[in-house]
Amino acid sequence: MLTLGIETSCDETAVALYDSEEGLVGESVFSQIDMHAEYGGVVPELASRDHCLKIISVLEDALGARNISEIDQIAYTSGPGLLGALLVGESFAHGLSAGLGKPTIPVHHLEAHLMAPALDFDDIGFPFISLLVSGGHSLIIDVKGLGDYTILGESQDDAVGEAFDKVGKLLNLPYPGGPHIERIARDGDPKKFNYPRPMMHSDNLNLSFSGLKTAVLYSIRDIENLEEHIPDVAASFQRAAIDVLVSKIKKSLIQTNRDTLILAGGVAANGLLRDEMSKLKDELNIKVRYPAMKHCTDNAAMIAYLGSLKTPDMTTQGNSNARPRWPLNEV
Ligand code: KG4
Ligand code: ZN
Repeated sequence: MLTLGIETSCDETAVALYDSEEGLVGESVFSQIDMHAEYGGVVPELASRDHCLKIISVLEDALGARNISEIDQIAYTSGPGLLGALLVGESFAHGLSAGLGKPTIPVHHLEAHLMAPALDFDDIGFPFISLLVSGGHSLIIDVKGLGDYTILGESQDDAVGEAFDKVGKLLNLPYPGGPHIERIARDGDPKKFNYPRPMMHSDNLNLSFSGLKTAVLYSIRDIENLEEHIPDVAASFQRAAIDVLVSKIKKSLIQTNRDTLILAGGVAANGLLRDEMSKLKDELNIKVRYPAMKHCTDNAAMIAYLGSLKTPDMTTQGNSNARPRWPLNEV
């Protein structure tokens, strides 16, 4: 069974091919990041238009020497995400479906992230804890099996990557701020500014990053030679954000007694987070895994793979299933 996967929920145009026997046999991603960088964040209308412009060449790249007629079914991200961007991927999937006479499978973007580790590891069994940290998500999820997910904690406001990006903007760093903050923080003192660790000591596993971002905003207003102190601000902010993540992840592992932790999302690239997770691995005697970075960030391999585990619902073919907001527990 050959499943085509299409991902257009935000600012990556991606297509992949997953074969039930051979595994991943083709993938291609085009990132719009350079286009949005000029505006300091993703501009939804530009994202939709660019998906339209790029999707055919991305499909051709993913297919390689294969012919499109070889595919058996078409999985696509139907939510959550930017409505216009989702509709481009869905319309493209429906067009292919009508032309080829193959069924479509609408897929939940976060569920695909949760299942993505199977693309890179064959020794991960259920259950496991997933920490999904990106520009759009900050979630701690107990993954008990396909379709069996419990959200243990989530951000009540900004996603952690969003906070990195907003602080990056305050410090006049290029978009997205996360990797630049990490780089600059290497020359800074993480104890220079004592920023808050929101909700770190609350009983639950929820997260919050908007107060931390505001604390950075207020503190830099009072700094006279900001240029000189940018590394200290970056290091102190990064330390505070990662401290909160580490504390909540540790609590979630202890509470659930799970022995495997999987990290996904762009923030999983952060070196300080990785160092802390490595300490936690030894302290709690758990397995910590990072899928390949190309499968941690938005990609279509995870969409094709999840589609390959599902059966098309023939009663909904051709209908629009795009859901910009789609809670994971409604999968
Ligand atoms: O998963 P991703 O590529 O896209 C989505 O948000 O969907 O994640 C991008 C996010 C951005 O907010 C970016 O600033 C953050 O991940 N990020 C990082 C690092 N690399 C990327 N945050 C902290 N440290 C990093 N090294
Ligand atoms: Zn994502």
